[in-house]
Amino acid sequence: MKASAIAHSNIALIKYWGRSSQHDPQLNIPLNDTVSMTKNGLTNGIHLQTHTTIEFSSDFDRDTVVVEGQEIAGRHLERVVRVVDHLRRQAQVADRFRMVSRNDFPTQAGLASSASAFAALALAAASALGLEFTREQLSTVARLGSGSAARSIHGGFVYCHRGQSHDTAYAEQICPTNCFDMNAVIAIVDVGRKTITSDEGHRLATTSPFNDVRIQISQQQAQQIRKLILENNFNAVGRLAEANCLYMHAVMMTSQPALFYWQPTTLKIIKTVQQLREAGLPCYFTIDAGPNVHCLCQSQNMLELQKILDSIDGVQKTILVEPAEDAFVTDRHLF
Ligand code: DP6
Repeated sequence: MKASAIAHSNIALIKYWGRSSQHDPQLNIPLNDTVSMTKNGLTNGIHLQTHTTIEFSSDFDRDTVVVEGQEIAGRHLERVVRVVDHLRRQAQVADRFRMVSRNDFPTQAGLASSASAFAALALAAASALGLEFTREQLSTVARLGSGSAARSIHGGFVYCHRGQSHDTAYAEQICPTNCFDMNAVIAIVDVGRKTITSDEGHRLATTSPFNDVRIQISQQQAQQIRKLILENNFNAVGRLAEANCLYMHAVMMTSQPALFYWQPTTLKIIKTVQQLREAGLPCYFTIDAGPNVHCLCQSQNMLELQKILDSIDGVQKTILVEPAEDAFVTDRHLF
């Protein structure tokens, strides 16, 4: 009853901010449909992936979780147990587990790790328990740990339904890695931990007067962007992703208390992307709940864009990314 899995992180093009209050908050059901690209890092051997091993045994007297060599407790442990408990119930197994997880990127690098972490956990745990789930079912399990993790079960470009229940709030693949020419350069501005977690931010979303409008427009944008990805229309996808990012940050900045994730360098990058576009280099920005910027581009322009972003004062480093493969089971165990 031991299995390992590897999953990649993802960047949302149509973003999730705020959970549905009509459901148990522990289900992490988002207020709107979302769309993302699962990402594979191309810089310094960093693939932006999490490798997780889990074992169930009647010999264990408690559940243990070790992340990056450190045993975790409290809120982080509860999130892991919530995912595993769901699967233990389905498999009718009462055994305790030991889980060990490692990212191939520094956790303190300002890059989200919960999406790849909970996708790898859902896949490894289901596999260790012998549960034969579809990828869509697995995505609902990953969501119990982190909303964005549902999408990291799939590779390529992914659509996540807000749904009306646990089972209908699932992620599905729009198309695989090679169907749409989009890469990104991540400009790292700050490597520190977030002062306000996404968890707190999701709770504050409804305090913004613009929240309902964002939800309504995001629903339309999610449908539109899916179609544009399938049509390989990079510029239209970039425009929509950028607009959706600004709607989310408008909600963040107008919630009570107001949340500002940007730093002065974030704005410098936004301005640079706009100027580059005017000068004929097609690129667009998107920003999650932090100061770092994902600059979306086509593969042919990636290195040129990286050079320009590297030269901006305040950019600590850049990481190139391309679409990644599906999360997968591996026989390389971490213990
Ligand atoms: C801004 O609840 O998935 O990245 O705190 O990492 O679990 P964690 O975040 P999560 O919220 C993600 C919010 C977002 C937008 C998105 O990825 O859709």
